Amino acid sequence: MSHEPCRVAVITGGARGIGYATADVLARDGHAVVIADIDPGAGEDAAERLRAAGRSALSVPTDVADRASVEAMVRTLLERLGRIDVLVNNAGIAGRVAPLHEVTEQEWDTLIGIDLKSVYLCCRAVLPHMLERQRGAIINVASVAGKEGNPNMAPYSTAKAGIIGLTKAVAKEVAQRGVRVNAVAPATAETDILKTLSPEAIDYMKSRIPMGRFCRVEEIAEVIAFLASDKASFVTGQTYDVSGGRCTY
Ligand SMILES: NC(=O)c1ccc[n+]([C@@H]2O[C@H](COP(=O)([O-])OP(=O)(O)OC[C@H]3O[C@@H](n4cnc5c(N)ncnc54)[C@H](O)[C@@H]3O)[C@@H](O)[C@H]2O)c1
Repeated sequence: MSHEPCRVAVITGGARGIGYATADVLARDGHAVVIADIDPGAGEDAAERLRAAGRSALSVPTDVADRASVEAMVRTLLERLGRIDVLVNNAGIAGRVAPLHEVTEQEWDTLIGIDLKSVYLCCRAVLPHMLERQRGAIINVASVAGKEGNPNMAPYSTAKAGIIGLTKAVAKEVAQRGVRVNAVAPATAETDILKTLSPEAIDYMKSRIPMGRFCRVEEIAEVIAFLASDKASFVTGQTYDVSGGRCTY
């Protein structure tokens, strides 16, 4: 039996949807999970639900688009728990459905800040600690939109493509220093994020899935948990599709 202290996994946007499912699976796999969500009430409820199920869970309200907030979250965790083994960069928004020429500069900046700059900010805050310990796994939640481009979702598609590029580059930077960096690219799952999308946009996305159904959040969480685990010890720089066959590259 291993006497290694509990591994710590941070899940941004972990209060609901794919993030919560990921927290649940990582907690099942023995991690102490930290919900780093901008919604403090939902984050605390999520952590409480996990604790009620006998898991180890903590909520640290965080705005991933804000450098000071991200740095404060990481400082708090290192003070309280002493280690971060897994970072899941999951927080994100879909933005308004509109052709690019109608997207305002503010909408563009907001979406890129929350969906892409956040991944840079969180990686930058956590990597020095992981590199010092020569141990860590980062999983970035991209999207099939970043591979194929979803019409009328250009800022989102751009951010998700950016995440895939960031994942490849950083994975190579740290490949010999004990840290793995991978991404997942899910197709559509029925979560709150769909609330900002039109029925036409949702129908379009579903019609592109060869399996002919939406993704279940647990299906995404299990792939993230694999990438977080030592079972994936020789896997880095990859973007795993969880898309019912939508992208086969
Ligand atoms: N649901 C899908 O169809 C789908 C498909 C592919 C990729 N994704 C990606 O999966 C991730 C999770 O999406 P979801 O469907 O679970 O969405 P969701 O709306 O159910 O959950 C997103 C969570 O992120 C949090 N959040 C939003 N802005 C934040 C910020 N600035 N700082 C911290 N937390 C913030 C929200 O409070 C919320 O709890 C997103 O990156 C999304 O782009 C979703």
